[in-house]
This record gives sequence, C-alpha cells and structure tokens, in this order.
Amino acid sequence: MAKKTVKDVDLKGKKVLMRVDFNVPIKDGVIKDDNRMVQALPTIQYVLEQGAKLILFSHLGKVKKEEDKAALTMSPVADHLSELLGQEVTFVPTTRGKELEDAIADLEEGHVLLFENTRFEDLDGKKESGNDPELGKYWASLGDGIFVNDAFGTAHRSHASNVGIASNVDQAVAGFLMEKELKFLGEAVNNPKRPLVAILGGAKVSDKIAVIKALLEKADKVLIGGGMAYTFLKAKGYEVGKSLLEEDRIELAKELMEQAGDKLVLPVDITVADDFSNDANIKEVPADAIPEGWEGLDSGSKTNELFSNILQDAKTVVWNGPMGVFEMEKFARGTNAICQAVAHLTDAITIVGGGDSASAAKNSGFADKFTHISTGGGASLKFLEGKPLPGVEALSDK
Ligand code: 3PG
Repeated sequence: MAKKTVKDVDLKGKKVLMRVDFNVPIKDGVIKDDNRMVQALPTIQYVLEQGAKLILFSHLGKVKKEEDKAALTMSPVADHLSELLGQEVTFVPTTRGKELEDAIADLEEGHVLLFENTRFEDLDGKKESGNDPELGKYWASLGDGIFVNDAFGTAHRSHASNVGIASNVDQAVAGFLMEKELKFLGEAVNNPKRPLVAILGGAKVSDKIAVIKALLEKADKVLIGGGMAYTFLKAKGYEVGKSLLEEDRIELAKELMEQAGDKLVLPVDITVADDFSNDANIKEVPADAIPEGWEGLDSGSKTNELFSNILQDAKTVVWNGPMGVFEMEKFARGTNAICQAVAHLTDAITIVGGGDSASAAKNSGFADKFTHISTGGGASLKFLEGKPLPGVEALSDK
C-alpha cells in the first residue's frame, strides 16, 4: 500500500482521531446491521492496545433539517460499540465546543470516545459535506497530530471529517479496514486471477454506466441483471411491459452492447408479475416476451442457470447490485442463485460491494463463503470505476 497505515505511527499516549463509517441502518434506536462496526473493530482495538486515547467520529444518514437530528444521533451507535468492545464508550452529544474538548482532555489511555454525527454540522451551511476549511482544522486540533481513516465507505466523499482533517495533521494514515478494502478491490480489478466475472444489478443503468464501461474493459464476462437489464432488453428491440425502463439510456445501452459483444450477458428469461407486491401473480417468460401490463421483477430459472454456469469457471468475481426485488421473497430467486453459485466456488476470490447485494449475501446464509463483503456502496462503485477516492488520496504517502 502506497499510503501510510496505522502500523506506521507511534500511538502510545497520543490523542488519536479516527474516522469510521458507522453509517448503519437504525430503526427505532436499534441497529439493523452492524457489519460496518464489526469490521472497524480490529483498528479500534489495535489503537487502544497501543495505549492511545481514541476519539472516534462518523456521519449517520443525511441531516437536512433540525428535526432530523433526533433519529440520526450517534447515541445508539455508542451503546452498541460499547457492547462490541466490552468496554465503556464515552458518548459526547455534540460536534464541537467546551463539552467535547473537556471530555477529550479527561480521556485516559486505552479509552475511547465517540462524538455526535458529523453531519449535524451540515445544518449551518453544509460545513461537514462542503469540507469547510475551518471545521477540518478545528477537528484536527482536537488530537495530537495523528488521524486514522478507516471509513472506506465514505472515502468517495471529500468532507471535513476525512479530507479536511487529513490536510491539517502531521500523519494521516489508513486503518486496517481501509487497507483491506483497497487490497481486495484493487487486486480484483487490477490484477485478477482470470476469468474475472463481474455481476452488475440494481435498479438504474444511469447509476452504473461508468462501472459497466470500466468493467467491460477489465472483466472477461459482465453479467447484467436487476432493474437495469430492462433498458438493455429494450435496446435489443424487445418489449418490456411495465418493467423499469430508462428511455434516455436506451441508445447508450445499445452502444455498450455493440462494444462488448458476447462479453456482456443479459437475462434470457424473466420472472414477471402483474403487481409490485409479494401477493402478485407471477410467471416466467422469455426475455423477448414480457407481456404488456406485466413487470419484470426478477430473473427467470434459465437465466439463473446460465449465470451460475458462467460463474462456475470464474477465478475472480465482483458483484454489485441484486438481480431482482429480493426484499420480496417471490423475487429473490435470482439474487439467491448468484449467492449460491458464488458460495460454491472453492478456488476464486469473490467480492461483494454495495449495501443491497451485501445484505442479500448475508441473508442467504452464505456470507462466510465470500472472500470479502465490502463495507462500501458508493465508494466501492467509484473504486471499480477506476476513479480516485478523495479520502484515500488525502492520506500521507509512505
Ligand atoms: C454510504 O453509506 O455509502 C456511506 O456511508 C456514504 O454515505 P452518503 O452516501 O450519505 O455520503
């Protein structure tokens, strides 16, 4: 890794600032998926073991108005972190000022503090998301010149709490999770064992254009599923009924198919429904025979078999985006088929990125069969597109 890591700095007795991505789904104060927190534990534990005084911070959701604050406080996250670590976590319900500064001054070696959602600073002129120079400088001043960035999930953002702080400290270093994410994703696309098979799903072509283009250059096969497949099917001249369609991307889909030739693989059959609901009537139809008034909500059995067969030979798999509306059981078969096919690969590097496909992988019961489940959604997409991640760029070079 070209950037310094937490192993390259002396942490003993230092007030260490650490950006984590604890942007986790929370409902009624209960954390629904703590994967991002669990994955950050090795760095947190290491820093504490070195005898540092650890100051953690993260954003949570998007804070647009004062009323958003109640649901987006980091307080439940602090409680959960304390359970995970088996030690007290001091929660400071503010993002600046005397209360925070006093709590930091009182922090002992080997102890940890988490302060409030960094995006509370967005209410007063987008200071966090706009990388306000004064804010980055202020947060940097709270530590002893060492900043650890373990928030891979936020690395595609240029915010005060990652890029801003990094520009105002002596040493800005990567945590173990950041290092691991960059290693796995980097090797998968830049130095893959071949064949490299990419599976791309999700609702919109428009969200994935850059990544489709990039992966068409790098991968041996690119399998397309999910809502965005219908824009490609339409571009082939098929009718798609009520399925998701981005009219303004049909031409682009055509161009991509022409460029890609047989590298790009589309569904050959579709599970269609007469309603967007788990109670809908469903049937499987060939991809060129979606009936009028019906909506494609999942891939069909032949597609699942085709995709599974292609995956059988893969030595590297990169997957982003579900194959159907997997949140509804009736339309989860395509996504589950991918999970199963990937789970059966014994000699392949398999990587899932993106919140939906990552949670599908977990729900399928095969999570431990994947080589790496990325904590990055947007960040992993940007990385796969080959774009620089500002949060990483801002770290100190080795
Ligand atoms: C994510 O969930 O992808 C990251 O935490 C970034 O969140 P954001 O999309 O709200 O910036």
